[in-house]
Amino acid sequence: MIYMSKLPHIGTSIFTVMSQLAAEHNAINLSQGFPNFSVDERLTTIVARLVKDNVHQYAPMAGYLPLLEKLATLTKQSYNRTVNSKTELLITAGATEGIFAAVQALVKAGEEVVILDPCYDCYETPILLCNAKPVHISLHDDFRPNWEAIAAGVTSNTRMLIINNPHNPTGKTWTPDDFDRLEQLVEVYPNLIIMSDEVYEYITFERKHISVHDRPKLWERSISVSSFGKSFHITGWKVGYVIASEFLMQEIKKVHQFLVFSVNSISQVAIAEYLDVVNVNELGKFYQQKRDFFRELMKNCPLQLLPCEGTYFQVASYDGISTESDLDFTQRLTKEYGVATIPISAFYPDGKDHKLIRFCFAKDDTTLTEAAKRLEKLR
Ligand SMILES: Cc1ncc(COP(=O)(O)O)c(C=O)c1O
Repeated sequence: MIYMSKLPHIGTSIFTVMSQLAAEHNAINLSQGFPNFSVDERLTTIVARLVKDNVHQYAPMAGYLPLLEKLATLTKQSYNRTVNSKTELLITAGATEGIFAAVQALVKAGEEVVILDPCYDCYETPILLCNAKPVHISLHDDFRPNWEAIAAGVTSNTRMLIINNPHNPTGKTWTPDDFDRLEQLVEVYPNLIIMSDEVYEYITFERKHISVHDRPKLWERSISVSSFGKSFHITGWKVGYVIASEFLMQEIKKVHQFLVFSVNSISQVAIAEYLDVVNVNELGKFYQQKRDFFRELMKNCPLQLLPCEGTYFQVASYDGISTESDLDFTQRLTKEYGVATIPISAFYPDGKDHKLIRFCFAKDDTTLTEAAKRLEKLR
């Protein structure tokens, strides 16, 4: 039988490749973005108790109602936006499913979706599967949005602009000025939808996160995507949520209904209860300490650390140390120095190489200390 792949260019992701290489070489894995420390005992205690309760059958399609209500309260507290828990909120199988469902539901064949590079890898495939066209626009060299390039790249055929703030892989966060520029853009293109990937919304440092929810002018057209995986150190649970105005949400639910129908029940009940005791505002302080600790440790390493305003990723330049490609450099770091990282070129569709690599510092202090010690020898 002859079969032509619909996605011939898609191979194994860099995260899997680097994690496998790390395992083969017994390297410390600072590549993939997941924490290696324990989950909050208050959460595991809730789960242990709930497992004996009647929580094992399908949850409602849009999500467990008490969880939706608590998320509406959280959104009010965090961003002073009132959302309707029944019509504007959806629990998803991680942020990934929310993004996929929203693109499938809202983007038609032949339309364009603007993506800002470098970017996380789950945006392009759902666009291609709609027979729509991804339009890649590079961020500035300091990874701020390039508003001139964005204004030039958006047309009346652009259905959606995907933004990610705080930004993976670079740790940049958007400023009020960036949001002013975004508001000006949507005035010119009133049918443009903004998909705002805010999975690191509670991991910002010196400056508080600005959400699309902080900007009433953007509410009608915006879809925000959140992840409990990032906010509660439970990436393996794959539970997240989407907020969108009702007319967009109705469409997103049509896809969600046939993609997963509903998200696993016990995690929703557990998170609903956990939201009563956890303070999301402590997350930024927690990771700020980790960031500062890691940056201090890396002082004796010849890599040059770039500023990190949010997320749990630290980008470093090896310019001046080696002329290797960033992929070769990260492979050598893994094999010869025993520390696995991610080459930033993997976040560009054309593999643009700025001699930058990404560390994940969501690791316990012992792991970070040992990694930094190994990297001191770097030449
Ligand atoms: C920017 C960004 N968006 C989305 C996701 C996916 O989140 P989830 O695991 O909740 O699907 C990630 C995970 O690393 C991410 O970094």
